[in-house]
Amino acid sequence: MAQTAAIGDRDAYFLERLDRGDRIEAEDWMPEDYRQQLVRLIAMHAVSEIMGALPEKEWVPRAPTLYRKLAITAKVQDEVGHGQLLIRVAEDLMRPWGKGREDIMADLFSGRLKYHNVFHMATPTWADAGIIGWLVDGAAVITQGMSLSCSYAPYARALGRIVEEEGFHIQHGESICMALAEGTPTQRTMLQDALTRWWPALLMFFGPPEKSQLSTHQLRNMRYRIRSKTNEELRQRFFTKYVRRIWSLGLTIPDATLAQDGVTKVWTYQQPDWDEFRQIVMNHGPRSRARLDLRATTYQEGTWVRRMIAHHSPA
Ligand SMILES: [Fe+2]
Ligand SMILES: [Fe+2]
Repeated sequence: MAQTAAIGDRDAYFLERLDRGDRIEAEDWMPEDYRQQLVRLIAMHAVSEIMGALPEKEWVPRAPTLYRKLAITAKVQDEVGHGQLLIRVAEDLMRPWGKGREDIMADLFSGRLKYHNVFHMATPTWADAGIIGWLVDGAAVITQGMSLSCSYAPYARALGRIVEEEGFHIQHGESICMALAEGTPTQRTMLQDALTRWWPALLMFFGPPEKSQLSTHQLRNMRYRIRSKTNEELRQRFFTKYVRRIWSLGLTIPDATLAQDGVTKVWTYQQPDWDEFRQIVMNHGPRSRARLDLRATTYQEGTWVRRMIAHHSPA
């Protein structure tokens, strides 16, 4: 009984710390549930950065100029670096479970750990690389900007650096899109087709809209100050930030119902196919299998490098 009360007190003290606005460090005591929620979020974010490098990597050998090739190579490298930074944060949290980065990668390859819907999609043209940089990274910064105030300090610190770099990625993508928008009719058509292809995936990026009541999972993450906005609030921010900019390039968003209410400022829009979204994140998207296979092969081929580094690292 005494032990139960002590655990209850620790939980209550932990929640009090969160209410005071304290940030939690890796070595601080935390409820097991808080640790699990963080690992789930950060491991998913980490593998999404790593898998997120692949759609644009496909365009590194085919970038139209040397300048664009250097820029997209740097972006791909940044995304893998973000993944590494986040895996370190996740593995510190997993240490009490006797687990590490190998388990994160094993879960990705087995399909137990999902990665973001947008990185399952095909990138058939150079305009797709532009749309990813401008709007996918733009959507990511809206979500990650919210997470800068996350109660877990190591995640918030890693995000501080990541969000800075994402700012450059957005400018890189916007520059590609603007060049195409001001280019030949073929280039404009290529850009319009890419936007039409990516629009539903961009809406799906934020997850399904909440029902009138938040799920237990969301309420818990808000209580833990792991997140502070709902999926729908984040999607609305995306519309407010990007819809007029997209229109200003003379592009058509493939949704005739898209409009902002003049008084409430809320955007109405056509829902994407949420069944398709579930299929995509279950690794049944257009490029899911090919990219996972590539990542698994590369991981396998790099085993000797990891062994050598582990062998020569201080204990
Ligand atoms: Fe990134
Ligand atoms: Fe990025």
